[in-house]
Amino acid sequence: MRIFMDTANIDEIRRGAAMGVVDGVTTNPTLVAKEGVEYRDRVLEICDVVDGPISAECVSTTVDALVEEARRVAAWHPNVVVKIPIGEVGLQAIRRVSAEGIKVNTTLVFSANQALLAARAGATYVSPFIGRLQDAGQDGIEVIREIVAILETYHLPTQVLAASIRGPRDVTESALAGAHIATVPPAVLFQMVHHPLTDVGIQRFLADAAKYTPV
Ligand code: G3P
Repeated sequence: MRIFMDTANIDEIRRGAAMGVVDGVTTNPTLVAKEGVEYRDRVLEICDVVDGPISAECVSTTVDALVEEARRVAAWHPNVVVKIPIGEVGLQAIRRVSAEGIKVNTTLVFSANQALLAARAGATYVSPFIGRLQDAGQDGIEVIREIVAILETYHLPTQVLAASIRGPRDVTESALAGAHIATVPPAVLFQMVHHPLTDVGIQRFLADAAKYTPV
């Protein structure tokens, strides 16, 4: 499973990228607004740090406007993937821009049926929001499992991008459910590296290594 970072914070992205395990980045209007920067400027900065798919969200509300916006956003950089929310308007736009070769990450997906429709429209990625499903008392991991099974059964090439991740366990369960990618907030990525027993183990090895001549 590939790991993306779900943030628009460039310092966190640099720190994650330095670990050598970040394959891409997802952003949305909320994440960019927190940074107080222009969306295009920040996406281009991110493209300089991470050489992989970088998702940028479209916010138009009609099909024609979404298509135009998706074309503009996709032209920012060859690695940019446009995010389009699922819905009747979104589906039409996904179909049109995907046919032009623009990569689409279908966002705000909360059901297997939404994912199936996005896949049939040609989306490159579908993003089930598992944390928000769990907040609403639903099983987000089960939705991922259903989406993965449907896409595999019908040989649809769309990739499942587990989003709205709240903790390290969500990443493990997304991987077990067959998600192709998890997009993780920086805090979760940095938590994933650590385990208290690793820290204890390192301290013990360092103490014992001091008892002989260093190599
Ligand atoms: O990038 C979309 C998604 O991951 C947002 O997550 O935490 O706002 O539900 P959250």
